[in-house]
Amino acid sequence: MLLAFADERALALKLAAELRCELAMVVEHRFPDGEIKLTLPPSLPGHVLLLRGLQQPNERLVQLLLTAKTARRLGAKRLTLASPYLAYMRQDIEFNPGEAISQRIVAGFLGELFERVVTIDPHLHRIASLDEVMPGSRGIALAAAPLLGEWIASQWPAGKGPLLVGPDEEAEQWVRAAGEATGLAGVVCRKTRHGDREVDVELPPIDLMGREVVLIDDVASTGHTLVQAAQALRARGVAAIDAAVVHALFDAPAVERLHAAGIRRIWSTDAVPHASNVVTVAPLLARAIADCD
Ligand code: R5P
Repeated sequence: MLLAFADERALALKLAAELRCELAMVVEHRFPDGEIKLTLPPSLPGHVLLLRGLQQPNERLVQLLLTAKTARRLGAKRLTLASPYLAYMRQDIEFNPGEAISQRIVAGFLGELFERVVTIDPHLHRIASLDEVMPGSRGIALAAAPLLGEWIASQWPAGKGPLLVGPDEEAEQWVRAAGEATGLAGVVCRKTRHGDREVDVELPPIDLMGREVVLIDDVASTGHTLVQAAQALRARGVAAIDAAVVHALFDAPAVERLHAAGIRRIWSTDAVPHASNVVTVAPLLARAIADCD
């Protein structure tokens, strides 16, 4: 049985169809003081799959705690979490003394609640695999960047694809994966972050005059990383800029900000529900979940 929440129903329906399994919804009631009450189907099979992405993570981590503990009480012996977006992965070291290393704490918490956690392109920068923070092969990291790459390539005539540009060094892995799937060439920029909304992006020293480019990244949130990259690209005389991200975490003004910076089209996967979704991750998730059965 697949359990899901109402705001992820679209992906849940696709996933249940791929897995040919029953879909049931977790019903949420919010009390006036902000507490939540969750209601699950009263009787559960031995293996339950829960779909819950961790955008707006603080709220959803509590939902996961309540759902997993309740599912066990109601009969689930094995719990798999499909969390297309895994939050807190960027805080992977103590940048300043005393800071929580959230990546380890959150991954450890999920590893205690679920036998398996299946996710897509988690932001693993200073660690090589999820195993380092979720031991025992509990975490499975899937790659959607090749799917995004194929979408990008399909928007141009064969052999005339754009240049892929990663806005920072960490994006090298997604540029490479999309490039390997499609043959599209790619480069990465260097980013310096000064604050939540202040970044500088430096392009590599190559001739970009008249080129069509697609910025590709795992996550966009405020959009400032893509905006700075787009501004630098325009200054180099590119002909057109589009952007593709796996996880469209965009805050409300971000899309407007991107278009104002000269980004023509914005594409994303449905790992996070957003108006820019063009690629579904349901078959990718379904294959991995079926394989670990
Ligand atoms: C960080 O390195 C990520 O890959 C993204 O580049 C970053 O999270 C984007 O954030 P924002 O859209 O707020 O600049």
